[in-house]
Amino acid sequence: MTASKTKIYLNGRFVSEGEATVSVFDRCFLYGDGIFEGVAVWDRAPFRLQPHLDRMKDGLDYLRIPNLHTDEEWTSIIERTIEENDMDDGYLRLQISRGEGMSSIKWEPRLLRKPEPNVTVIPIPGFKDYYKGLIAEKMETGLRAMILSRPRVPSAALPSGTKHCNYLNSVLGAIEVTSAQTDIGIAVDRDGFVTEGIAYNVFAVRGGKIITSPLNRDILPGITRSVVLEIARAEGHEVHETLFDAFELGSADEVFICSTLELAVPVIEIAGRKVGEGRPGPVSRKFGRLLTETMAREAAAWHAARKLERKSA
Ligand SMILES: Cc1ncc(COP(=O)(O)O)c(C=O)c1O
Repeated sequence: MTASKTKIYLNGRFVSEGEATVSVFDRCFLYGDGIFEGVAVWDRAPFRLQPHLDRMKDGLDYLRIPNLHTDEEWTSIIERTIEENDMDDGYLRLQISRGEGMSSIKWEPRLLRKPEPNVTVIPIPGFKDYYKGLIAEKMETGLRAMILSRPRVPSAALPSGTKHCNYLNSVLGAIEVTSAQTDIGIAVDRDGFVTEGIAYNVFAVRGGKIITSPLNRDILPGITRSVVLEIARAEGHEVHETLFDAFELGSADEVFICSTLELAVPVIEIAGRKVGEGRPGPVSRKFGRLLTETMAREAAAWHAARKLERKSA
């Protein structure tokens, strides 16, 4: 489907892209004062919707932005977005800004010109081809990574557990990656420990063990990260959520990244040094495969559960 036919959810209505506008006084536009989520749609079902909603609610609560919808209402909005857009697969961007008003310190509802949050769900249909292309290609070639010059914003400054709308750290990272003509950027913190990538979590594989940074180390608690860890345990891998530096990462047998958008993709080179044999290894490939298998299985379970619910209603 073409972008012009996309139906965007905006404050209770589905509107065309041209009509999906918010005021210049929108707090997200002015201050990044909002929370967002990125949810994968696979076989017409949202993948792991509940953890995405939970992470979003935590962020909204922390920023004291009202959540206008119950989980059931959110689920219905998401299902309607998939239907309205006849979306077999893709990516949904949920975005909630505090409302509208122009003063960074006057955040309280009574001081805003529009105290109700602006709630948006933007569908990006047609990702399976992208996923297929990306996975097929990157599973073969792997990604080249650099170590970014800036650390992630420390949690002490901005809670990294929330998916807040201040992504300039990632944008600067992406600019650095493009300038260096490489594929991805991995950040280390001020102590030299690996945290996460620009928009993905990072895993090292060493002697069959799966190693990733702990959640209290300036990283987003990625939903895909949690799925990867589930798969790792189910597959009998030892899992270590622990601190490790760029040397340990670079000298691992294998490295891979994961996110809703990228799924799980092998990394073959870090800062000009080969990881392992310098080609995608068996463990990374396995996770790429098992992740999409999990998505397909859970999509089937989602539809089966909805069918049952409709029958018993
Ligand atoms: C900074 C950051 N880390 C990790 C992730 C991966 O999170 P998820 O698996 O929930 O997509 C993202 C996703 O956008 C991100 O922005």
